[in-house]
Amino acid sequence: MRRMLVAGNWKMHGLGANLPEIAALRVALPDPRPEVIVCPPATLLHRVAGALAGSPIRAGGQDCHWNEGGAHTGDISAAMLADAGAAAVILGHSERRADHGERSETVARKVAAAWSAGLLAIVCVGETAVERDAGAALAVVGAQLAASLPDGATAANCVIAYEPVWAIGTGRTPTPAEIVGVHGAIRAALASRFGAGMARGTRILYGGSVKPGNAAEILGLADVDGTLVGGASLRAADFAAIVAAAG
Ligand code: PGA
Repeated sequence: MRRMLVAGNWKMHGLGANLPEIAALRVALPDPRPEVIVCPPATLLHRVAGALAGSPIRAGGQDCHWNEGGAHTGDISAAMLADAGAAAVILGHSERRADHGERSETVARKVAAAWSAGLLAIVCVGETAVERDAGAALAVVGAQLAASLPDGATAANCVIAYEPVWAIGTGRTPTPAEIVGVHGAIRAALASRFGAGMARGTRILYGGSVKPGNAAEILGLADVDGTLVGGASLRAADFAAIVAAAG
């Protein structure tokens, strides 16, 4: 009942010169079985959305402000992302939490803003290596999840992305048992707060060093409903291979 979702996070990569990757992705994925979303930097969003017009692949943002508008130099509202063609937005990514001191309470306000603009919120949680080594992975992820999700979360307006910080961009991935353990705990937490139906329907993505070579194994695990892909989303051929592994 949960449709797989593969989302690409381009991070601070991508210039106009990279737009041919979007055209190549359209050719490679004319009718993908999973839902597919590409999140380029904000400067490219409008052009990427235009390049995807008429395709089932959708565009998304990587962050938004919690206010609808106002005096916030350099920030971008959820409505602006939607206006530029976004259908979704990544929120609470560990790089935002680390680089910008973003706290879960702030993430929750951004999620609410995303919903007001009609965007799907892709809400990221994940522990650091130190936290995992201390045996605190589930506690950290649980606390982030609780504080990052406002009341009103549904299977239709949010997706959870579990991204262990130590696996992002490192080539290291958790063991299958570790992934299944965290995903199961996330689903249990969703069930106890939002109800069994919401938990059953909500996609939980794994992210962190997913590549064409490991995607099928990870995507085949219990409670893994897709993936959030960083580095391997920049090349259409790699990203398309991951989408194929999901569907
Ligand atoms: P990675 O990044 O695939 O390059 O590890 C994942 C992410 O940060 O979303």
